[in-house]
Amino acid sequence: MIISPSMLSADFARLKEELDRIKAAGAEWLHIDVMDGHFVPNISFGMPVIKSIRPVSDLFFDVHIMISQPQKYIAELKKSGAELVTFHLEAEGDPAETIRMIHEQGMKAGISVKPGTPAQALAPYLDRVELVLVMTVEPGFGGQSFMEEMCPKLHWLREHCRPGTVLQVDGGINRKTIAAAAAAGADCFVAGSAIFGKEDYAAEVAALRALAEQAG
Ligand code: DX5
Ligand code: ZN
Repeated sequence: MIISPSMLSADFARLKEELDRIKAAGAEWLHIDVMDGHFVPNISFGMPVIKSIRPVSDLFFDVHIMISQPQKYIAELKKSGAELVTFHLEAEGDPAETIRMIHEQGMKAGISVKPGTPAQALAPYLDRVELVLVMTVEPGFGGQSFMEEMCPKLHWLREHCRPGTVLQVDGGINRKTIAAAAAAGADCFVAGSAIFGKEDYAAEVAALRALAEQAG
């Protein structure tokens, strides 16, 4: 069970301190949401920010790109320090080619669907990605409510993905919702507002992990 705290909810004025606290809390991954204001109705941050935090953190950089033209930025993402790049099936470009380009740069590839896209649309790509991400909110903002009706997608994907594929869930994950996602087959949990801004990050990470393990 992997917990991937989403940096979108961090205090950007104290970013290094936030990443140190996440690491000390026992998280191995850092979920980094890149938004272009076009694929989603919000703009977050891009490569310069990823590049600046790379030398000060050894967390695994799990980069979720919510951008219209993923292929244009893959080489830059690699240079910035991304280790895994998850793009959206709904974005421009042939997904098979986007996956090939991510692998060519020596990174792991993930593919994601928004709530309105069926899991079955991912079928042609499941044998070539290391991670599949099911969005359980409309992408764009932190702090939204978990869409439990996405759980059947997780079930279907767990049955149809290659063994060893990471099945990630993103949006509204907290102590109340994580068990449903884990029971449906997810093994990697993005959590932004459920961790950042809390007094004790370690307690949150541990509680989320324990609830996921009990249910999964
Ligand atoms: C939303 C992002 C998420 C977001 C999750 O589009 O992809 O990663 O940070 O935030 P919470 O956990 O607060 O729903
Ligand atoms: Zn995300």
